[in-house]
Amino acid sequence: MGRVRLQFVRGVEVEFADREVAIGQVEGLAERGTRFPLVIFGPEGCGKTAWLKQTAEILRGAGYRVLYVNPNEELFEGAVRYTEDLAGLVEEVFRELVQYLGVARAITHLALAVADRALRKFARPRLAILIDDVFQAMGLDRAASYVKSALNLIEYPPSPYESMVIIIATSEGVSRRKIGRHRWAELRPMWNMSREGLRALYDALPGGKPDFDRVWRWTGGNPWLLARLYEAGWDVDIIIREVVEVKEITPSFVVRWRSYLERAVEDPEQLWSPDVPGKLVKELVERNLVAYNLYDRDQRLWVDQPPPEDDPELGIGKHVAWQTPMYRDAVRRALEEVGAA
Ligand SMILES: Nc1ncnc2c1ncn2[C@@H]1O[C@H](COP(=O)(O)OP(=O)(O)OP(=O)(O)O)[C@@H](O)[C@H]1O
Ligand SMILES: [Mg+2]
Repeated sequence: MGRVRLQFVRGVEVEFADREVAIGQVEGLAERGTRFPLVIFGPEGCGKTAWLKQTAEILRGAGYRVLYVNPNEELFEGAVRYTEDLAGLVEEVFRELVQYLGVARAITHLALAVADRALRKFARPRLAILIDDVFQAMGLDRAASYVKSALNLIEYPPSPYESMVIIIATSEGVSRRKIGRHRWAELRPMWNMSREGLRALYDALPGGKPDFDRVWRWTGGNPWLLARLYEAGWDVDIIIREVVEVKEITPSFVVRWRSYLERAVEDPEQLWSPDVPGKLVKELVERNLVAYNLYDRDQRLWVDQPPPEDDPELGIGKHVAWQTPMYRDAVRRALEEVGAA
C-alpha cells in the first residue's frame, strides 16, 4: 500500500509518516466495514485529516468507492475528493444540492446524500464515506442527528452493500459529549504523533533548526505546531503569544481561574479533582486547550498509539492532558503577565 504525499509547509511535501498502528486498524476496517459510524476526535492539528487521506488511499486499494469531504477547505478540489468511479454521481448530487443550499451547505450535505444515492445505484458496493470537520460547519447542535443519519445508512441501507465504512473526524472537544451520550457512533480518540513520527517531519524541514529534543518538548508531537514553529522561524515566543490570543486566554479568564490554572500548569491531572468548577473545565475544553476525561490507554480504544498514562514534561495525566505542551506554556505565560491578584 502506498503512502500518500502531503503538503507540509510551503515547498515541502512529505510522505504520510509513522502511524503504523492506525494503518493496521484501517486495514481491519477495510475487511469488516464499520458497524457504527466511527467518530474520531483529537487535538487540533494532531493529524486527523492526514490520516483520513491515508485512509482513503488504503480503502481505495481495497476496492472501495471513496468519497472524502471537508467543508472547511477553501477550494472545492480540497473540500471534495472521490475515487473516479464516484465522479458522475458526486457531480450530479452536488449540482442538485447547491441549487437550494448554496455551496457551503451543499458540501456539508454531500457525503450522506452521495452515500444514499450510491447504495441505490451500484450493486452491492464497497463504499467509504470520510467526513472531515463537518460539525463545525453545520453547528454542534446538529452533530448528533447527523451521526444518527449516518448510522441509519449503515443499518437500513436503501439497498444492500457488500461493505460500508463511515468515518467522521472532529477536533471539537465538545462534539464528543454531544455524540457520546447516544449510542449512535463508536468514538475513538487520536493523539499527537509519536516521537519517531514527529522526527520524520522535523527531518524533512530545510534549514537550521533547534535541537529535536526541544522541538519535541514544545510540540508534544503535534505536527501542525511543528509547521507553525518552522514558519515562524522557530520563534517560540511569537507562537506562544499567538496561542494566548487565538485561545482567548484573556486577563479576565486568568484572574477568574488563577488558583486552578496555577495547579493545572504544574499538573493537568489537578483538573480532575472534584473541587474544580465544571465551568472552568467546560471553558478549557471548548477552547480545545485540554483533553478531559481521556480514555483508558487500552490500544483498542484509540486510533493509533495512545499517549502515555503520565508524562509531566508534556503535560499529560491519566484523565486530563494539555493538548500540546505549548498550550500549557501559553497559560503559564498569561498567568505571569497578568500578575498575582
Ligand atoms: N502522519 C503524518 N505524516 C505526514 N504529515 C502529517 C502527518 N500527520 C499530520 N501531518 C501534517 O501535519 C499538519 C497537521 O495535520 P492535520 O491537518 O492532518 O491535522 P488535523 O488533526 O486534521 O488538524 P485540525 O484539527 O486543524 O483539523 C498537516 O500539514 C499534515 O499534512
Ligand atoms: Mg483536519
